[in-house]
Amino acid sequence: MKKVRKAIIPAAGFGTRMLPATKAIPKEMITLIDKPVIQYAVEEAVSSGIETIVLITSKHKKSIEDHFDKNFELEEILKKGGKEKELEKILELANCCEIVSIRQKEQRGLGDAVYCAKNIIGDEPFAVILPDDVMLSKEPVIGQLIECYNKVEKSVVALQEVQMEDVSKYGIVSVKEKIEERLFLLDDMVEKPKENPPSTYAIIGRYVLDSNVMKNIGEITPGALGEIQLTDAIKKEAISSKVFGYLFKGERYDCGNVNGYLDAIINFALERDDLRDYLVQIIKNKFL
Ligand code: G1P
Repeated sequence: MKKVRKAIIPAAGFGTRMLPATKAIPKEMITLIDKPVIQYAVEEAVSSGIETIVLITSKHKKSIEDHFDKNFELEEILKKGGKEKELEKILELANCCEIVSIRQKEQRGLGDAVYCAKNIIGDEPFAVILPDDVMLSKEPVIGQLIECYNKVEKSVVALQEVQMEDVSKYGIVSVKEKIEERLFLLDDMVEKPKENPPSTYAIIGRYVLDSNVMKNIGEITPGALGEIQLTDAIKKEAISSKVFGYLFKGERYDCGNVNGYLDAIINFALERDDLRDYLVQIIKNKFL
């Protein structure tokens, strides 16, 4: 069985839901406390054993590449200033893993963005991490999916139950069979259903996919919103082979919109030993 060594992080979208913050900086570079949102995705991948990350970017996204590159000038300044801790953080970032970046020249949908990495992926299974979906969990969520993939040797998508009124925002799956606690065999899925959703189980931005799915993307036609949808390529795989869904352990925050982002800031701060008491004190001072 081939090991899951590569992860694709699509980061080419405009981020209009976060304007004006995203007018001049990529949405992936907005900070969640003291790290840009995309760094959480990269750290999740690295701690799950991923060796190569393929960033799919677009025009005006250069700062993402710079963030994971070396910055000699800054390193020198930190060295001279004796700022060991800060220096360590900067070096860690630049050395965390191999990062390759590819530009998506036209915004033709998530499937198309993933397809930009096809030559790098070759015939290996691969992970996909959507950086807007930031996860708070003890075990990295993409690592949970890799573990499932290693067990079933078929594509696995992350699932979360959502409210009926929200199904039209997601890819929604149809469950054929419950295999074990949290693990389901899927027989259908539909991207952003307008009516008759097959369930309230939504695909969340973590996938471990067989290389067939990459091949499928090259063969499908535009679907929902007139875009090449990753969900449609996975559905094709569910029909011709098998695809599983895994109800991941952890919490997901959609940092692509203001409410989800605020929710993430509060919850991530409450998880941190260095910030929890400070945050609680701010709230107390305000309301008590
Ligand atoms: C994408 C996927 C969708 C999935 C969602 C999770 O949609 O196409 O299937 O449910 O991410 O966040 P987007 O949010 O890019 O519209």
